[in-house]
Amino acid sequence: MPRILLTRRWPDAAMERMAALGNVTLSAEDQPMSPQELAEAFACHDVVCPTVSDRIDAGIIEAGKGCVQLIANFGVGTDHIDLTAARALGIAVTNTPGVLTDATAEIAITLMLMTARRAGEGERELRAGQWSGWRPTHLLGTGLRGKTLGIVGFGRIGQRVAEMAHHGLGMTILQHGRSERGAPGVPARYCAELSEMLPLCDVLSLHAPGGRERSLISAGELALLPRHAILINTARGDVLDEDALADVLEVGRLAGAGLDVYRGEPHVSPRLLAAPNTVLLPHLGSATLETRTAMGMQVVENVTAFLSGQALPDRVA
Ligand code: DGY
Repeated sequence: MPRILLTRRWPDAAMERMAALGNVTLSAEDQPMSPQELAEAFACHDVVCPTVSDRIDAGIIEAGKGCVQLIANFGVGTDHIDLTAARALGIAVTNTPGVLTDATAEIAITLMLMTARRAGEGERELRAGQWSGWRPTHLLGTGLRGKTLGIVGFGRIGQRVAEMAHHGLGMTILQHGRSERGAPGVPARYCAELSEMLPLCDVLSLHAPGGRERSLISAGELALLPRHAILINTARGDVLDEDALADVLEVGRLAGAGLDVYRGEPHVSPRLLAAPNTVLLPHLGSATLETRTAMGMQVVENVTAFLSGQALPDRVA
């Protein structure tokens, strides 16, 4: 029987399907595993199914030498896994693309609306018992119809956000990425240079992959955004320089930010927590029962293919 490790609890339906595939170690407490626990687990499992909350570095992969043959990640992003180290040891790595596109795009739109309409500030005020009643100038936000949305990273999720924002909210779409891509049915002008797009954005939404030493959006890029702009990040924390963001928010050089991801998760910068004009979510991008179940089922498909010697449907290394 193949020995399979799930590092965290999954939705029941997916966990039950996986349990039928072999000798499965489940996460009893659903707590993040320490590097030591991960290394020990790598030394005694054939297949490991980690998530974004596990840092699978070269040392941990080395501990699985001669044992782990497949790392089947529960999630699309693989920046927490050292793919080079896995390749060097001939360990295959798979992910779960496609099934979380809609859910993540919905969270980007949620953050866009909440930030533009100051919903976070309003809810905090009301819950604190500080709402004194309706008045014409209370918490005035900004509408999105006719505004320009700049999208960085025009892959599946970026394209879905563009579609929702254009057809649902009446926004004009600009997009930037390493190469030009089109989204069927969505007019989205490609800007080859980020510096060309940033000054035109009322809203900037980040959808580029993580795993970066240097953030894609740092002080220089933030300085190019109009003062009234808002910034949305549902990609990865390291795509954005959080200190530089706090700098511009604190002096009113940017209208607001809606974030779902952070560099040192689950730690969140106290400066971002203190800024009134931020909406901060705890990495909820794919957090619907339907999506998390589909992600688990996609891992099951990859593991099934692996165990029966077939080509892996979602191989990234
Ligand atoms: C992923 O799949 O990479 C997400 O960040 C988890 O929702």
